[in-house]
Amino acid sequence: MLNITIRQLKVFEAVARHLSYTKAAESLYLSQPATSMQIKQLEEVVGIPLFEQFGKKIYLTDAGKEFQHYSHIILQQLNDAESMFANLKGMHGKLTICVASTAGYFTPQLLAEFCKHHTKAQVSLNVTNREKLLSLLAHNEMDMAIMGRPPEGHDLEAVSFMDNPLVIIAPINHPLAHDSNIPMVRLAQETFLVREQGSGTRIAMERYFSEREIALTTGTEMSTNEAIKQAVQAGMGLGILSQNTIQLELETNRLTVLDVEYFPIQRHWYVVHRKGKRLSRIAEAFKEFLLGNSEAKAKVSQSA
Ligand code: PGA
Repeated sequence: MLNITIRQLKVFEAVARHLSYTKAAESLYLSQPATSMQIKQLEEVVGIPLFEQFGKKIYLTDAGKEFQHYSHIILQQLNDAESMFANLKGMHGKLTICVASTAGYFTPQLLAEFCKHHTKAQVSLNVTNREKLLSLLAHNEMDMAIMGRPPEGHDLEAVSFMDNPLVIIAPINHPLAHDSNIPMVRLAQETFLVREQGSGTRIAMERYFSEREIALTTGTEMSTNEAIKQAVQAGMGLGILSQNTIQLELETNRLTVLDVEYFPIQRHWYVVHRKGKRLSRIAEAFKEFLLGNSEAKAKVSQSA
């Protein structure tokens, strides 16, 4: 049997993912020489190079690519075993949740409600964009994610639990601010500020307009909902954002939502994890909470 250690496997997985010894070392809190040494020893045991170096860059060899597949499976099984032990120990476990930037507006409130009943849960919340979420899911680096509907073919289980309407926001003095049922084609005359590539909001908005064959003029790209709201208030253009993100600005009369035909875009929030993942009891409890607790959800979608 291959005489390799779990540590070597973890180091291999990190170096293969980052294709950089420095970044892998950082992510593992190891020194760079220790990281390279682990790889060297692993290559000695397997008897074939797993990485090759050209100039400053490193690449996986064919053997490395094949081995990456096995290392994912082995590490995933180990994670599952860890969840199983946490399960047997009860609801004291760690709950690691990663959410899309937009879901960061309401998830903390849901977690707060959940933690009232699960006081021993140790929650870790990571807010990032959709693309990064898919990569974290692929590497089994969390219990579950909250995001828009994930794409097919990623071996993921996704259940929708809450509405996510996308609306068009404008400064309060915009000429269309008081119009009703504005024809969608009228929007072709406006400039839109858009979220970064990889954002779920951006993908949904582009798809919606292209399905209706309306060409959008897009202006500056911004990587946060906050920046878009500020830019819209400052008159740089219109924005399309989740209703979940603008409650404060509506209440304080800093932004308005335009009444446009076929709007809002009706999206949903999904709780997502890898297919067949054995959720810990605490993760299972949180999933049930999300799917069932309509009172808490109604509260956050009103206040969000
Ligand atoms: P975001 O939203 O990535 O645009 O923040 C998530 C989604 O709607 O999928």
